[in-house]
Amino acid sequence: MTVDTKILEELTNAHGPSGFEGPVRDIMRRELEPLSDRIEVDGIGSLIASKDGASNSPRIMLAAHMDEVGLMVKYVTDDGYVKFQALGGLLDSALIGQRWVILTHKGPVHAVTGMKTVHVMTPEERSAGFKRDDIFLDAGATSKEDAASRLGIRPGDPIAPDSKFEALNGSDYLLGKAWDDRIGLAVMIEVMRSVQESPIQGTLYAVSTVQEEVGLRGAQTSSYIVKPDIGINIESGVAADYPGITQDEAQERLGSGPGVFLHDTTMLPNLKLRDLVIDVAEENDIPLQFEVLAGYGEDGAEMQRSFGGAPVVNISVPVRYLHTHNGIIHRRDIDQTIELVSKLVQKLDQATVDGVRSF
Ligand code: CO
Repeated sequence: MTVDTKILEELTNAHGPSGFEGPVRDIMRRELEPLSDRIEVDGIGSLIASKDGASNSPRIMLAAHMDEVGLMVKYVTDDGYVKFQALGGLLDSALIGQRWVILTHKGPVHAVTGMKTVHVMTPEERSAGFKRDDIFLDAGATSKEDAASRLGIRPGDPIAPDSKFEALNGSDYLLGKAWDDRIGLAVMIEVMRSVQESPIQGTLYAVSTVQEEVGLRGAQTSSYIVKPDIGINIESGVAADYPGITQDEAQERLGSGPGVFLHDTTMLPNLKLRDLVIDVAEENDIPLQFEVLAGYGEDGAEMQRSFGGAPVVNISVPVRYLHTHNGIIHRRDIDQTIELVSKLVQKLDQATVDGVRSF
């Protein structure tokens, strides 16, 4: 099972800061409609595609989030600079010196996060970094009035990172923004494709959620619609295979296959489900890695605790440099994650799900 580069490129290039996922939702609707029996959208924008199987049960929920970390216009200064509110977890040092797109009612407006010039800094200032409150966007507006009337910038407009997809030097290392969690969406599309030819036992729900980066909000509302018996969240894993990060902080490596989360701030997986994932990986010669993180939150948590609770596992594609303009993933990890999740949903008949759910 392989994923088409074109859809990866389209998904990662699309603008979709939390709460403004429209362009990503359009892609997901277009891709999932031919693969689904029903499509619905919940009250805050999560897209729920479902495919019937041989019987009505179990209800299997896949989820991946459409939003990416970004910014929002707070106000424009009298001389035309844009101050912002962050949407999601961004390091101050990841904000500086980058290109952005302000999504206004008049269309996209290009801007950069400017910074004070090195020439005028004291030696202490040069190594100190920048504070969030000192950072601003420069869209080439001459005044507050010019920003509003000519460029159409209004308070509340979303601001997306501006960074384009590239197969890094023609290799299997794929560079782009927002792999968190566009890569989960790409995997979900291919899993839905896989059940066209080999239908599963129950109903498969592929949910593209909104507002994950600001608190798992779309996963909460959509879980209440789907009412899952079991859940599989698909996310970006934290790679720890570059200088300055240790195995104690994160354990995934690019090119070493899908990851299975065992701990993050929001969720503990069901261990019977973990073991089922291990069995499926072994039966199909798919390499597996494990991830134990002290931080991190993910949509699986909301699936897990809706209604009376459901067993859930979070499966990840490892990503380097999450929540920056330039993340890197490895193509083989994507293909192996698609295969793993596709084979896993085939296993989830009612008896197997009952077994996982028995305590
Ligand atoms: Co994510």
